[in-house]
Amino acid sequence: LKLRLRKIDRSNWQEAFAIRAKPGQERFVATPVMSVALASIRQHGDHYVHTPMAIYDGARIVGYVTTLCDPESADDYWIDDILIDARYQGKGYGRAAMAEAIRFALTTWPRCAQIRLSHHPENRIAARLYPSMGFRPTGRLVGSGQPEYQLSGAALEDYR
Ligand SMILES: CC(C)(COP(=O)(O)OP(=O)(O)OC[C@H]1O[C@@H](n2cnc3c(N)ncnc32)[C@H](O)[C@@H]1OP(=O)(O)O)[C@@H](O)C(=O)NCCC(=O)NCCS
Repeated sequence: LKLRLRKIDRSNWQEAFAIRAKPGQERFVATPVMSVALASIRQHGDHYVHTPMAIYDGARIVGYVTTLCDPESADDYWIDDILIDARYQGKGYGRAAMAEAIRFALTTWPRCAQIRLSHHPENRIAARLYPSMGFRPTGRLVGSGQPEYQLSGAALEDYR
């Protein structure tokens, strides 16, 4: 499964903004409109770069993923949001898109030595998916009580 990531911009926003979660998943992730809005106001501060991207299987958008980082740092890199459209979940897109987002960060910011993320405590699919991709719990909670994970060392180098 070969997916491509492309920034959400004026050429693809209509299809990207139509990406929807399944009923009940809305609390797990920002809508694509909200993710782009938070990027445009630089939610986390002027030194952070937000990159909202559409996930493509061929010509079709199947989801979106947003990275967030301080590119001057080695360790302040995040996969901020990922959503596979309700119609396309459970087909391997989430795992493949995560791997693409990790590779995007490593190639765009070669000094990146750690990638972090978190998920809603009740998000069982995310809680299984991230450790299976090499992320380890840090033991910290971020935001509103979300367990934090990090990908670093040999587990990160595997994607480089
Ligand atoms: C989490 C998410 C991105 C995963 O994407 P996906 O395309 O559905 O997942 P994949 O098909 O790549 O499967 C990844 C793993 O989850 C498991 N999985 C997927 N859907 C599942 C379901 N409905 N029930 C149980 N397990 C499921 C798969 O079995 C797979 O594990 P495996 O590789 O060991 O078999 C997607 O479910 C999603 O968009 N959820 C709503 C938004 C969200 O929660 N985002 C994450 C915020 S932290």
